[in-house]
This record gives sequence, structure tokens and C-alpha cells, in this order.
Amino acid sequence: MIELKGFNLGKVEKRVDWTDELFSLRVSGVPLAFKAGQFTKLALLDERGHPISRAYSVVNAPSEQFDWLEFLIVANPQGQLTPKLQQLRSGDRIFVGATAHGDLVHDTIPKQANDLWLLSTGTGIGPFLSLLDDINLLPHSDNIVLVHGVRYDRDHVYKYLIEQLQQRYEGRLKYVPIVSREHIEGKLQGRLPELITSGELSNKADVPFSQQNSFVMMCGNPEMIKDTSQVLQGLGLEKYRTRTGGNIIYERYW
Ligand SMILES: Cc1cc2nc3c(=O)[nH]c(=O)nc-3n(C[C@H](O)[C@H](O)[C@H](O)COP(=O)(O)OP(=O)(O)OC[C@H]3O[C@@H](n4cnc5c(N)ncnc54)[C@H](O)[C@@H]3O)c2cc1C
Ligand SMILES: NC(=O)c1ccc[n+]([C@@H]2O[C@H](COP(=O)([O-])OP(=O)(O)OC[C@H]3O[C@@H](n4cnc5c(N)ncnc54)[C@H](OP(=O)(O)O)[C@@H]3O)[C@@H](O)[C@H]2O)c1
Repeated sequence: MIELKGFNLGKVEKRVDWTDELFSLRVSGVPLAFKAGQFTKLALLDERGHPISRAYSVVNAPSEQFDWLEFLIVANPQGQLTPKLQQLRSGDRIFVGATAHGDLVHDTIPKQANDLWLLSTGTGIGPFLSLLDDINLLPHSDNIVLVHGVRYDRDHVYKYLIEQLQQRYEGRLKYVPIVSREHIEGKLQGRLPELITSGELSNKADVPFSQQNSFVMMCGNPEMIKDTSQVLQGLGLEKYRTRTGGNIIYERYW
């Protein structure tokens, strides 16, 4: 393969298929300095040898023990890159960005954030798994609520990791899975903004939203972020700005 400026060439260690559309790629051999919660780029060459690159969040936390990076990806059949990523197998080569970016990181969480909400849809859970898995920088909040909204029950991935994290956080981490397109006993059904408005999400987590104590990080579907931000602002929460602080910070995936 050719060299690509700003990228290193890595090797696919494995691909895990969660569903027909949803998969994880583990890539090794790429030096990437990143903070838990950040994203980098993945790239492949198209039929004419032109690179196609897109941003992807790292799901694992930085570690001195492991040199691999894991990504959670949903294939868009009409998309340019994801159908190609979905066909990669162990041993295949892939370009990985040489730098990482993003503000969904430990440093952004204010010290006084007693209740940390991590609201995600679809593959947007990735950066929060990384953030929670960084043993050197565990979020200090008394209550941490990891919320994952998906279409179908089968899209609730990384359950084993979430269970391990819950043990590590010794009661401070609550996991609230939400399904929008089917009814699943014991899980909330619907969309995040409505479930906040109705109070069902707070009830389920047993944590209220408040301007004083809540810090909300959001990731995933841009419409979810727009609609949820509006609802949270209606409850008195404010968008986070580096200079003035605030309660809400997010990363849109498209
Ligand atoms: C900061 C950042 C981090 C990202 N991290 C991830 C990640 O960890 N995992 C991931 O799967 N994607 C992630 N994305 C989206 C990713 O960069 C691509 O846009 C996506 O994989 C589609 O690429 P494509 O070439 O196949 O489709 P394109 O031809 O680029 O088509 C894009 C369309 O696909 C849909 N789409 C894009 N991303 C998603 C998604 N994640 N879930 C549902 N629908 C989507 C939207 O309708 C969008 O308009 C991230 C995007 C940003 C900006
Ligand atoms: N997951 C699948 O089964 C599937 C199947 C075929 C193709 N795809 C492809 O995969 C892509 C992504 O699918 P995805 O399921 O990972 O992501 P998604 O479409 O972003 O859906 C994830 C969750 O976000 C919710 N959501 C959407 N808009 C919202 C809003 N404004 N406010 C709050 N919540 C909102 C969805 O609810 P709703 O269900 O109410 O929309 C769903 O629960 C699609 O664009 C498509 O190309 C996925």
C-alpha cells in the first residue's frame, strides 16, 4: 500500500460482527497518542486508488499494555467507506490517523459535576466506553449514568464490558439501555428527549437533572443531540463553553 500523509498503516487484528450492520474493528501496529473519549480517522483506498477517510471514536482507553485500537462502526449500505470497512478481515491493512481529537474527555468534566450523564445513540456509545475504561482517570462524580438509545435490542453492544465497568465503579455507574423500535421487558422504550421530558429516564436512573449538579455529555445522532439539548435547556441546563462553563457538551456523528 502507498503512504498517506497524516496516517499510519495498521493491521486489522479482528472484526467482531454484532449484527448484520454493526461491527467492531480491532487494529494494531499504529502509534496513536489519544485521550480516552477521542476520535481519529480511518481510511482505505477506493478502486481508483484515492483515499476515503472518515472519523471514528476509539472504544478502548489508552493503555501501556496494549497497542491496539478498537472502533465500533455501523455500516451504511449506501455509504462510501463503511461497506468497505465491514469487509475487512484479520491481516488486512488499514490507514489510521496519526492524531486524535475531541472534547468528550476527562479534563472537560467539571470538578463539581456530582451527576455525570453520558447520553448516546447507536455507535455514539464508543467514546463513553473509552472514557469509563481509563483506569488512570476515573470520573469522580458520585453518580455516572450511561444511557444507550438504539433501534433494536440486538444493538445493545459491549454488555460484558459494561458489566465489568459497573463492578469497577462499585455502584457509582448506572447503565440505562433504551430501545426505540420494539418492546423489551425491563428496558425503557422510546427516544431520549421524550423520556427526559416524561421523567422516565431520571426515574429509571434515580438521578434528577439539575443545573447545579448535572454535567451531560452526548454523542451520536445529530437530531437526538439537537432535540435533547432543547429539552435539557428547558430544564435550566446550559451549553458548555470553555470560558464560562455550563452543563452540556456533545459530539455529532454526522
Ligand atoms: C467526530 C466523529 C466521530 C465518529 N465516530 C464514529 C464511530 O465511532 N462509529 C461510526 O460508525 N461512525 C462514526 N462517525 C461517522 C463516520 O465518520 C462516517 O460518517 C460514517 O461511518 C459513514 O461513513 P460512510 O462513508 O459509510 O457514509 P457516507 O457516504 O459518508 O454517508 C454518511 C451518512 O451516513 C449516516 N451516518 C453516518 N454515521 C453514522 C452513524 N455513526 N450512525 C448512524 N448513521 C450514520 C448519516 O445519514 C450520514 O449522512 C463519526 C463521525 C464524527 C464526525
Ligand atoms: N440499526 C439497524 O437496524 C439498521 C438497519 C438498516 C440500516 N441501518 C443503517 O444504519 C444507520 C444508523 O442506524 P443506527 O440505528 O445505528 O442509528 P440511528 O438511526 O441514529 O438510531 C439510533 C437511535 O437514535 C434514535 N433517534 C433518532 N433520531 C432521534 C432524535 N431526533 N431524538 C432522539 N433519538 C433519536 C433512534 O430512534 P428511532 O428508532 O425512533 O429512529 C434510535 O433509537 C442508518 O442510517 C442506516 O443507514 C441500520
